[in-house]
Amino acid sequence: MKLGLLGCGTVGGALARLLESQRETIAARTGVHLVITRIAVRDTGKSRDVAVAADVFTTDTMSVVEDPDVDVVVELMGGVDLARDFVGRALALGKPVITGNKALLAAHGAELYAAADAAGVDLLFEAAVAGGIPLMRPLRESLVAEPVTRVMGIINGTTNYILTKMTEEGASYEDALAEAQALGYAEADPTADVEGYDAGAKAAIIATIVYGAVVAHDEVHHEGISSITADDIDVARRLGYTIKAIAVVEGGESEADTSVAVRVHPALVPLDHPLASVRDSFNAIFIEGDAVGDLMFYGRGAGGGPTASAVLGDVIDAAVNLTRGTSARIGSLVTAAVRPVEASSSAYYLRVAVIDRPGVLARVADVFGRHEVSISSMEQHGLGDEAVLMFITHVSSEAAVRATLDELRGLDIVTDIHSVIRVVGEA
Ligand code: NAP
Ligand code: HSE
Repeated sequence: MKLGLLGCGTVGGALARLLESQRETIAARTGVHLVITRIAVRDTGKSRDVAVAADVFTTDTMSVVEDPDVDVVVELMGGVDLARDFVGRALALGKPVITGNKALLAAHGAELYAAADAAGVDLLFEAAVAGGIPLMRPLRESLVAEPVTRVMGIINGTTNYILTKMTEEGASYEDALAEAQALGYAEADPTADVEGYDAGAKAAIIATIVYGAVVAHDEVHHEGISSITADDIDVARRLGYTIKAIAVVEGGESEADTSVAVRVHPALVPLDHPLASVRDSFNAIFIEGDAVGDLMFYGRGAGGGPTASAVLGDVIDAAVNLTRGTSARIGSLVTAAVRPVEASSSAYYLRVAVIDRPGVLARVADVFGRHEVSISSMEQHGLGDEAVLMFITHVSSEAAVRATLDELRGLDIVTDIHSVIRVVGEA
C-alpha cells in the first residue's frame, strides 16, 4: 500500500520514523505492507531525520495527491484552504485520506465527510482531536449508541503545559509557551493554542461525532488563558481548585432539543476531579453518559510521536478497508443550533477589588442577591486599598452573573473586577 505524505514536519517526520520501525510488525499483524512513496513539503532542501530517499520529496503537492501510484493520502501539512483542495481532490479520486488537521475539519468537515461518503472511501482523523489518545474511534464505534450528556476535555497540550508550569514551578506565561513551542506541542501560530481556537476546533469536531451536529468553528465560544495570573492560580489552589483550559460540549436540554452547547475557557476544577490531575502536555476527555456513567480518556495530546501513533492507526485502518473495498461512514449530520454562551449556566469564581470599610461586603452581597446569584463561599484578602473579595458562586445563569458584574462595576466601593473564571466539575 503506497502512501503519499503531505507535510513532513513534527508529525509527518515522526510518522515516517514510526512506520519505518513498525513496518514488519504491521505487515505481520494486518497483512498490509505500507511504504511512503511520495512526500510533499515546502522546502526540499531542509535536512530531515527520516529514512526516505531524497527523490521521494517534492514541492508539487498536487502531484502527490494525483499520482496514480499513491493509494492513500496522509495530510499533515496544516492550514485550511490548500489542505481543503488537496484533501477534496484525493477523495474525488477515490483515495482514502488521513488527516490530523482540526482547523480544516472544523471549517470544512461537513463537505469533506460528504465527499468521502460519496466516494466510498475513508476520511479518518483520530489525530485531529487529543493527539495520541484513541477518542474518535471509541466515540464513533463503542459509544455510538450512548446517550452522552456532556463531554469536558483538556484538549490542548500547549495550554495545559503552560498552566502546569505556572502552577507547579511558578514559571512565567512567556517562558512556558516558549518551552511548549520547543517541544513541538504548539501550532505554527501559537495564538491558536493560547486563545482557544485550536481547542474550539477540536470541540466542534467532538460535537459532530457525539451529536451528529455540524458546528461551525466560529460558533464556538472561546476564551484564552493569557489573562490567568499567578494570583488566580494561588487563590484557586488555596480554595481547593486548579486552573485548566477546558472544552465543554453538551447536547440538548431535553430529548426533543437538538441544539448543542460548545465552549472553551479557563476553569477552576476541584482538586478531587479526575481532570485536575491531568498535567503537562497530557490531554484528557471526561465523558458523562446516561448509560455508561463517567468515562475518561487520557494520554499525550500533542507532540510528534503521540500524534504519529494516532495517524498510523488510521493509515492501517484505511489501508485494510481499501483492500476489503469498505470504508467507515461518519453517519448523517444535521446543522444544529448552537446555544449562545449567554444561555449557559455555571458556578463562578470572582475576584473583586473593593475599598475596605464597614458595610462594603453587605452592599456587594446585596447585588449578588438581587440578581439571584447565590454565593457558595467568600474570602477577603488584604486590607484598606489592597482589599480583595473572592467569591465562589453556586451554579447561576451566565446572564445573571454578567448583570451582577455590570452592577458591581458601577459601585463606588468596587475599584476593579480582577478575575471572572467559571468553575466546572463540582459534585
Ligand atoms: P509542522 O511541523 O509545521 O509541519 C508542517 C509540514 O507541512 C512541513 O513539513 C511543511 O514543509 C509542510 N507544508 C506546509 N505547507 C505545505 C504545502 N502547501 N504543501 C506541502 N507541504 C507543506 O506542523 P505539525 O506540527 O507537524 O502539524 C501538522 C498537522 O498536524 C497540523 O494540521 C496540526 O494541527 C496537526 N497536529 C499537530 C500536532 C502536534 O503536536 N504538532 C498534534 C495533532 C495534530 P517544510 O518542512 O518544508 O516547511
Ligand atoms: N497545538 C496542539 C496542542 C497540538 O497543543 O494540543 C495538538 O492538536
